[in-house]
Amino acid sequence: MKIAVGNDHAATELKFEIVDYLKKLGHEVINFGTDSTESCDYPEYGARVGQAVAAGEADCGVLICGTGVGISIAANKVPGVRAAVCSDTATARLVREHNNANIIAFGARIVGSELAKDIVKAYLDARFQGGRHQTRIDMIHEIECRR
Ligand code: RB5
Repeated sequence: MKIAVGNDHAATELKFEIVDYLKKLGHEVINFGTDSTESCDYPEYGARVGQAVAAGEADCGVLICGTGVGISIAANKVPGVRAAVCSDTATARLVREHNNANIIAFGARIVGSELAKDIVKAYLDARFQGGRHQTRIDMIHEIECRR
């Protein structure tokens, strides 16, 4: 898969670990994040990954900031994006199975690197279940269309 990755300064080190891990799993990575630890603004990186995923330039995305929250809020402003913050593997699996999340997010100040890799793997291994879950995603899409 082609995976867009984005991060702010709080997550640069973890981003490099996740990029290496994704490559080892055989994925192509597009790095939209900062490679620096200089303070920067997470909305920019959330938007970049959100736009790449929504445009189909990437199959899905991984976003990392201090908590995973700010960068996911920014990405979720891009129509078509369903970015979900996960701090455990069960949630990571369920956001794909039920919510068809196209971006997973987590916090470099919240989860350690081994758990972060497990979260990414649980998300990538899961499959959207469709059915009643698709109906609910259609409802979310309808809310976007009200803008
Ligand atoms: C940066 O200090 C921090 O606010 C950011 O990484 C993130 O946690 C915001 O949600």
